[in-house]
Amino acid sequence: MTRRDSAGERDGAGAAEAATTAGDGTAAGATAAGGGEVRATVDVDRSDAGYRAWLKEAVRKVQADANRSADTHLLRFPLPERWGIDLYLKDESTHPTGSLKHRLARSLFLYGLCNGWIRPGKPVIEASSGSTAVSEAYFAKLIGVPFIAVMPRTTSAEKCRLIEFHGGRCHFVDDSRRLYEESADLAARTGGHYMDQFTYAERATDWRGNNNIAESIYQQLRLERYPEPAWIVATAGTGGTSATVARYVRYMQYDTRICVPDPENSCFFDGWTRDDPEARSEHGSRIEGIGRPRMEPSFVPGAVDRMMKVPDAASIAAVRALERAIGRKAGGSTGTGLWSALKIVAEMVAAGSQGSVVTLLCDPGDRYLDKYYSDAWLSRQGLDIAPYTVTLDRFLADGVWPDSA
Ligand SMILES: Cc1ncc(COP(=O)(O)O)c(C=O)c1O
Repeated sequence: MTRRDSAGERDGAGAAEAATTAGDGTAAGATAAGGGEVRATVDVDRSDAGYRAWLKEAVRKVQADANRSADTHLLRFPLPERWGIDLYLKDESTHPTGSLKHRLARSLFLYGLCNGWIRPGKPVIEASSGSTAVSEAYFAKLIGVPFIAVMPRTTSAEKCRLIEFHGGRCHFVDDSRRLYEESADLAARTGGHYMDQFTYAERATDWRGNNNIAESIYQQLRLERYPEPAWIVATAGTGGTSATVARYVRYMQYDTRICVPDPENSCFFDGWTRDDPEARSEHGSRIEGIGRPRMEPSFVPGAVDRMMKVPDAASIAAVRALERAIGRKAGGSTGTGLWSALKIVAEMVAAGSQGSVVTLLCDPGDRYLDKYYSDAWLSRQGLDIAPYTVTLDRFLADGVWPDSA
């Protein structure tokens, strides 16, 4: 980027003398043809044709990637026909980088580019539990800038492999509460841009439409028997997805309510129920991608109707039940959402009400074969999914959800 004082380059038609800028930034006086003093306009022009050509090309590449992509599917989760309730999963695992974070990464890159924050040759740095970093590594490579992911050391090996596959570099921290500072420090040291999904997720995404996840869900429900869902269930990492969905629903004047389930070791539930933006939790979440140690700025509590605190064993039992029901493996956060969505379906069954419920298939299970699909990992973590599996199997067979679950 070049900086220059362009006052001297101007033609100056009509002025008696070319304006100049003094070293302290104030305009030097000039004498007009008519007599009295004319104070010069201070003019700093930072335009840079080379950078703008790069920017234009970078934005084109990101937009072209979106243009080549198809929408994600809205899958049906099979429920007994007699209930008169339809449950759907918005399958975000089919994005080119395999998770709902593909949408966010695209929005953050466009936001960072159009704000002039992402610059040629300078690294993009992100604090992430992995999925966002996989998608951002992809977009960084697309526009040709280096990418560094700052992540908890416990991040799944498969996600690290994917980040490196897309040309990114992994930088680990032992305490996940240090992710933010470490990312900001790294950006300062390298002259790069700290993307900061936790702050910018909610504003980088266009919540009024533009084929965001909510608009896409409603479009795909148009021909269904209950096109306006009673509930949409969305888990929170940054909180950006739940904010986008909740705002869209309100903006479009739908009656749909938004439920955000939260895993163990996350503070969103406590912060929301106690109305405490300073809520903190001590440990990182076992459910990768969701659950945070602080109330993230992108989480919009006022737009959320309901929250649930879901035991981690219940999330894992649910994601395994998903495979039995539709033959697909998914990540732990999909299980957290599915558990809550099924609990809501159970309430509807008990109340004799009919309608639809939507939750998200956030990312694929093959990223977590050594975690949520490993019995050895479960026992190392002290997690017993058996009672939750019984709850789910009984519910799907006879519609009864135990009061205790
Ligand atoms: C696998 C997974 N599921 C769900 C979420 C939640 O999305 P959001 O960040 O929009 O709250 C994330 C976010 O990181 C994620 O990685």
